[in-house]
This record gives sequence, structure tokens and C-alpha cells, in this order.
Amino acid sequence: MSPDDSRDPAHRDNGHEAAGAAAFVPETEDLEALRAAAADCQGCELFRDATQTVFGRGAPRARLALVGEQPGDVEDERGAPFVGPAGRLLVQAIDEAGIDRDQIWVTNAVKHFRFTVRGTRRIHQTPDAVHIAACKPWLSAELRSVAPDVVVCLGATATRALLGTTVRVMRDRGVVLERDTSLGTKRFLVTVHPSAILRTPDADRPSAYAALVSDLRVAAAALQLLG
Ligand code: URA
Ligand code: SF4
Repeated sequence: MSPDDSRDPAHRDNGHEAAGAAAFVPETEDLEALRAAAADCQGCELFRDATQTVFGRGAPRARLALVGEQPGDVEDERGAPFVGPAGRLLVQAIDEAGIDRDQIWVTNAVKHFRFTVRGTRRIHQTPDAVHIAACKPWLSAELRSVAPDVVVCLGATATRALLGTTVRVMRDRGVVLERDTSLGTKRFLVTVHPSAILRTPDADRPSAYAALVSDLRVAAAALQLLG
């Protein structure tokens, strides 16, 4: 774990310093090697009930990365991030913001689906700080490899994983945040999670969606300014 990671409040919440993904992460920037190793991760208990590790996907040299919370039910089955309902909304918003969907890296803060079973249904459970901390080495490794210029945190879990607890989504959304981290990347933008928009009551959904698109445009503009 890097010195920077140990200062991250998400990590301080983790009482199990010995646990976590670090022991499973190979010393490589090769994304496919990282993906293969992540498939065998047992860094926290979430691997037990989930179907498979859902690693990031996209352009290996993407200048923009988007980080969600954890795979959902569909992602757990298919083994790819953001391929369910939230993913469809995200892709639509990305298109509308003028971002080339083939030039981004998409991943999650936590790489196994956390859920409870109710009858025949698997109900999403928000990951705890310990899961965020345990899985952070994978997120750090993939973001070091991709080395995007801007990282978009979709919702509170990604924000917590990358920026700690001092950044608040609703207060700090939609502006470029410059941060010194152990990652190659120092520019972040936080916004709402697309699932939150799906849960927004009908009357308020169009404006919630428009605000997400507007935030993504800020990220796109930041990339253009960087040249
Ligand atoms: N929600 C997420 O945060 N990530 C996914 O991959 C799917 C839904
Ligand atoms: Fe490893 Fe992350 Fe899965 Fe936990 S959630 S087992 S740390 S890949």
C-alpha cells in the first residue's frame, strides 16, 4: 500500500490492515495481467457469493476514466461493468456530453457484487468502507496503468474510494478538483451515480439527468483544455 493510501480515510476505517487486495495485485501495469489476477482475488469476503470479479474495461490509454460503485446484478452475470440499466443511462449521458464512448475507461471502486438474497432476487447492498479499502489496490493499479487525465467519480462510493470523506458529491459536483494522489492522475470530477437518476421520481428525473450530462461536459471540456 502506498503512503498516500494509508492517509485515505477509507483506509483508516479498515481495521483489517492485513486483509485486502494488495497481496493479489501483481507488480505490473499490464491491464490484461491485472485483469487475470483480479479474477482470483480473495481480498475480502465479497468474492464468496458473487459470480465473478468485474474488472474495468475500455480503452487502455483512455484520457477519461469513469468509476462507479460496484457491479450490479447484470454486471455480475456478464462480467463487465455498466452493462445493465444504469450502464445504459450512463452511455446515453456520455454520448450527449460529446464524449467518445470508445475512448474511455469504465470501472468500479469495488469489483465484486455485494447483495442480499430475498426470495429469488438478489438485492444490491452498498459496499462498506472495509470493502472499498480492500478493493482499492485494484482501482489504483488500473488507474496507474491507464493513466487518464481526468477521473470521474460516479456517486459517493467512488468519491470516497478516490478522494476520501472530505469531498461530498452534492456539494462538490461538477467542478474539476485538483488532488495530489499516488496515482498518475490529479484531476477529478465528482457527480451523481446513474442509478440515483433511475431512482429519482418521474417529475424530477429529466433535470437530474440533465445535471449529470452537464457535469460530464465539464469533464470533457477539461480534457479539451489540456489539449
Ligand atoms: N452500478 C455501478 O456502480 N457499476 C456498475 O458496473 C453497474 C451499476
Ligand atoms: Fe478482491 Fe475487491 Fe473482490 Fe474484495 S471486492 S474479493 S478486494 S476484487
